[in-house]
Amino acid sequence: MSKNSPVFTCSQCGAVHRKWSGKCDACNAWNSIVEEAPLSTGPKALGGKGKTILLTDLATEEDAPPRASSGIDELDRVLGGGLVAASAILVGGDPGIGKSTLLLQAAASFAMNGVKCLYISGEESAAQVRMRAQRLGLQHAPVMLGAETNLRDILTTLDTERPRLAIIDSIQTMWLDTVEAAPGSVSQVRAAAHELVTFAKRRGVAVILVGHVTKDGQIAGPRVVEHMVDTVLYFEGERGHQFRILRAVKNRFGPSDEIGVFEMTGNGLQQVLNPSALFLSERGTANPGSAVFAGIEGTRPVLTEIQALVAPSPLGTPRRTVVGLDSGRLSTILAVLEARCGIPFAGLDVFLNVAGGMRVTEPAADLAVAAAILSAREDVAIPPETVLFGEISLSGALRPVGQTENRLKEAAKLGFSQAIAPSRSKIGSAEGMKVREMPDLTTFVGEMFGAG
Ligand code: TYD
Ligand code: MG
Repeated sequence: MSKNSPVFTCSQCGAVHRKWSGKCDACNAWNSIVEEAPLSTGPKALGGKGKTILLTDLATEEDAPPRASSGIDELDRVLGGGLVAASAILVGGDPGIGKSTLLLQAAASFAMNGVKCLYISGEESAAQVRMRAQRLGLQHAPVMLGAETNLRDILTTLDTERPRLAIIDSIQTMWLDTVEAAPGSVSQVRAAAHELVTFAKRRGVAVILVGHVTKDGQIAGPRVVEHMVDTVLYFEGERGHQFRILRAVKNRFGPSDEIGVFEMTGNGLQQVLNPSALFLSERGTANPGSAVFAGIEGTRPVLTEIQALVAPSPLGTPRRTVVGLDSGRLSTILAVLEARCGIPFAGLDVFLNVAGGMRVTEPAADLAVAAAILSAREDVAIPPETVLFGEISLSGALRPVGQTENRLKEAAKLGFSQAIAPSRSKIGSAEGMKVREMPDLTTFVGEMFGAG
């Protein structure tokens, strides 16, 4: 590629192409490729010497307390134990899911804890943000508000005000006058994020960038932002449900896969400290098609109800509908049930749902999924005091999963008395729980539902 030839970038995945085309080869998105100005390369002169420090000197360099608590436990947990100074955090989520609400509440909470905090909105005026704060009962929090989209002005503001935390809502509205592209385009978002992240590292300011997500779940354009920042959090949930889950998908300063659970109420988001009780609260008496999965989200056990419905299908190709789980996983489990246990699903629609709008990604949910489907198909309820967990292998064997003891303790705490687990699980001390270990799916089907 010659130095000044134009560059074509996919606004969905950030892939760079030599020429324009209607479809991106990398992510298969249509009509997503845009032309960008080529990167100008300056004269090949030697640069100045960069600053280096010795690893062993680090401890003395950083005397300030490394983490600031937000005062919101669920948020601190997802951040890996509080906000790290000079870190960059991306909070992504669908429009309207509650990102601005969450971050305004976080800003207020940080400010009350003595962290100087600047909230810059590119979408609302300062007065509108103040109105929202009033509705949330936060009007007395010493948060500085700004309404600005020009990044040059924002950097100057940050430089003068010197906050410890700056929240930029949202990165898609920010623009740099040195980049010839519309706000929200890949080049603007990339350049703006780069400027902010560099500023954060150099000046010791923590920045939180808000990013809107497109329909297919990618933050619009900025896959490119994900690798620039230290922490990527997604704020997710079903619009119809009141529960919202803040999920860490990347964290340089703590465990990823950690979740924080919130409830959207009339006065903002309330944290939910005991999500298991909440996800199971709508559960009535034992019904066919319902199974309770003892799962682990990050470092915390969370119990969820898996619901299934199996009904004769009027269609040639029966339906497989899944909410809150991976549909590929359902196909695999159905195939194992057919091939290894001889239970046919041809001509039957299968619907699967995780109650409460929760999303389960652990393979340990396999056994609970199989149990819910079988229970629905045979119209036999699983005993109500039972939890299940275990991964199903393609041979039909059940494989032990991690943190068995934590799962059992959480289940016991919530009043369950029996667990069905794979053989060779490391049970540890699980008081009050009767653990029935099963080597494979065929044994499970035989014991729970007769011969199958
Ligand atoms: P918002 O934070 O503006 O979403 P985002 O920044 O992710 O686009 O949230 C807007 C939604 O939250 C809106 O549908 C109304 C709802 N909401 C409440 O239910 N209660 C409240 O107290 C607030 C402030 C918002
Ligand atoms: Mg918003």
